[in-house]
Amino acid sequence: MSRFCLATICSLVIVAGGLISQPAYAQASTTSAMFRNQLMPQPASLHLGDGAFQITSALTVSLPRTRSGRLQRAVLRALRRLEDQTGVPLPRTIDTTGAGTLIISVASDGARVQGLDEDESYSLTVTQSSIDLDAPTTVGAIHGLETLIQLAQPSGHGYIIPALTIQDAPRFRWRGLMIDCGRHFEPLDVLERNIDGMAAVKLNVFHWHLTEDQGFRIQSKVFPKLTAVGSDGQFYTQDQARELVRYARDRGIRVVPEFEMPGHSTAWLAAYPELASGSQPTGTRPEFGISNYALDPTRQQTYDFIEKFLREMTTIFPDQYVHIGGDETPAPDWKTNPRIRAFMKAHGLKDNAALQAYFNQRVLAILTQLHRRMVGWDEILNPALPKDVVVQSWRGVASLAAGARQGYQGVLSAPYYLDQMQPASIPYLADPIPADTTLTPSQQKLILGGEICMWGEHVDARTIDSRIWPRSAAIAERFWSPQNVRDVNDMYRRLQPASVELETLGLQHLTSEDAGLRGLLGSENIAALRIFAQAFEPVRFGERYREQNTSTLTPLTSFVDAVRPDPPIRHQLELAAQTLLAAPTSTSPATEAARKALNDFFAQQIAAAPQVLIQMQDAPRLQAVQLRAEQLQDLATIGRQAVRYLSTGTPPPAGWKAASLATLDQAKKPSAIVRFQFLPTLAELVNANP
Ligand code: ACM
Repeated sequence: MSRFCLATICSLVIVAGGLISQPAYAQASTTSAMFRNQLMPQPASLHLGDGAFQITSALTVSLPRTRSGRLQRAVLRALRRLEDQTGVPLPRTIDTTGAGTLIISVASDGARVQGLDEDESYSLTVTQSSIDLDAPTTVGAIHGLETLIQLAQPSGHGYIIPALTIQDAPRFRWRGLMIDCGRHFEPLDVLERNIDGMAAVKLNVFHWHLTEDQGFRIQSKVFPKLTAVGSDGQFYTQDQARELVRYARDRGIRVVPEFEMPGHSTAWLAAYPELASGSQPTGTRPEFGISNYALDPTRQQTYDFIEKFLREMTTIFPDQYVHIGGDETPAPDWKTNPRIRAFMKAHGLKDNAALQAYFNQRVLAILTQLHRRMVGWDEILNPALPKDVVVQSWRGVASLAAGARQGYQGVLSAPYYLDQMQPASIPYLADPIPADTTLTPSQQKLILGGEICMWGEHVDARTIDSRIWPRSAAIAERFWSPQNVRDVNDMYRRLQPASVELETLGLQHLTSEDAGLRGLLGSENIAALRIFAQAFEPVRFGERYREQNTSTLTPLTSFVDAVRPDPPIRHQLELAAQTLLAAPTSTSPATEAARKALNDFFAQQIAAAPQVLIQMQDAPRLQAVQLRAEQLQDLATIGRQAVRYLSTGTPPPAGWKAASLATLDQAKKPSAIVRFQFLPTLAELVNANP
């Protein structure tokens, strides 16, 4: 007998963006099982079949075509994860000769160095008796295995994979995550677990920001002072970097290294001051922000150095692309150094931008000779450069489009800055090629995709995961899935299981909050503080930068470091408010549930805040949030009142609304570099009152 559904939903054809969420709620007619679409990213197309494949120890795997070591390792990793998820012991080895119930048919292991043109597609056919995963390359199969893991779902006392057919391929070829290891060094295991997370959501480019004013993080044997002087001893050895490249390749992920030049180069120049444009640093720079130091673009010695350095780096990083940074180079020396002025005059370079374009041309020639292509931030965009450089746009969609109109390939990053601490919904809806784009089809082809950016000013190994995940899973869907997959509520529904899956990979985005709170309190007794913390999120990068004046010397152990951006309760409250406001006095189960969710949240905060105020007397680092705790009691009280007035249809007393809105306005002002995550929802509730 079929263990899975059917009559109601089997005939549904789910094309991404269409009926995606419907099957999740469709009741199975014959069993309690139903298809829960928890896939993130959503596939290009999904057709439900009849019944389900039961996961049992009888599962066997066969690889009828490609049997590369990379594919076998990927299959064994997937089996271990399925085993952990289901509690069912699964094969420890792959019988490459026999028949199997999981048949993974891969035409080719793919390019020796994964490139932009790697075919990442796959198809998955699940029936009651077998699972067929077909892919042209191992990378496609790796993506298909991730889908398979997300498809496994409970049914009765065991786990099933619903019968279905998926045809899937990415919308964009470049789906990146950049991690800045220059400002704060991130140990290798942090990078590895983040690469695992990337693979789980089908990201395919790890952009490794390796040099900054604060540190030079990659060992050079040719120029050993780069790390000896420029790194505080925190850097990756060449062997470690090669190992990370191998680790990433095993997961279908390219590694694009970034070596910032000519600006953001204090660490280069601390080690080799003779390369400077004039003023020379005496060491790396603990302060963040934009430095005035720059490599000297006018001397042959600079290019000889870069050539030797990049040649060495190509022995570590096989990717076709090398990122040269190029952003934020004020270089005042270029305006004042008489030798540089004379050079500019002799070469007809009218300003700093022209000199930087000259520099980029010289570096591009070096990269070309090394069989590498150039990527750089917006600032490299200059008609002097040929069209095969890739521009990574951090200044906005408009600058990406401007590049495409001039014929340059581009990768969008502006909306995907995680340190803006925005709810996942905002970057989720930001599209590298929005539906209303004015780019021509051929210009659109130049938009390679997007890249999430995790800058390093305000993160260390303890906190970085909670800034990256789970929001990056939502952004990964934007890069992979069809353009019309844009249902924010459905995204948030799927983000929760995705977040838990990411934790099983070793990511610490969920546990780091509790660890941070325990550290603040010096106690395991964080029950009240944990509730309290849910009311907050970190402020945007710019506000923290202004308010805290951070440097590499700032301990990242404040309350702001513990709390997470976009805590799940934020969207739950938003939804509850929408439901309540649609029919404020209704007693329908949905309205009652929404009312209860809001009331519970406010009541819990009213109870928690006084306890936190008491606990902070013994926890000096927590005292920064005293004002926030006091404000929270007032805000939560206003929330309770707003819900009560709305629900009973009772107009609030005269002056209540104005006084409440004034309290909300006060609460918007900076304090403790955290903000109340629920203020917009609370404002809606207050404003809905007469
Ligand atoms: C950048 O944010 N300066 C690339």
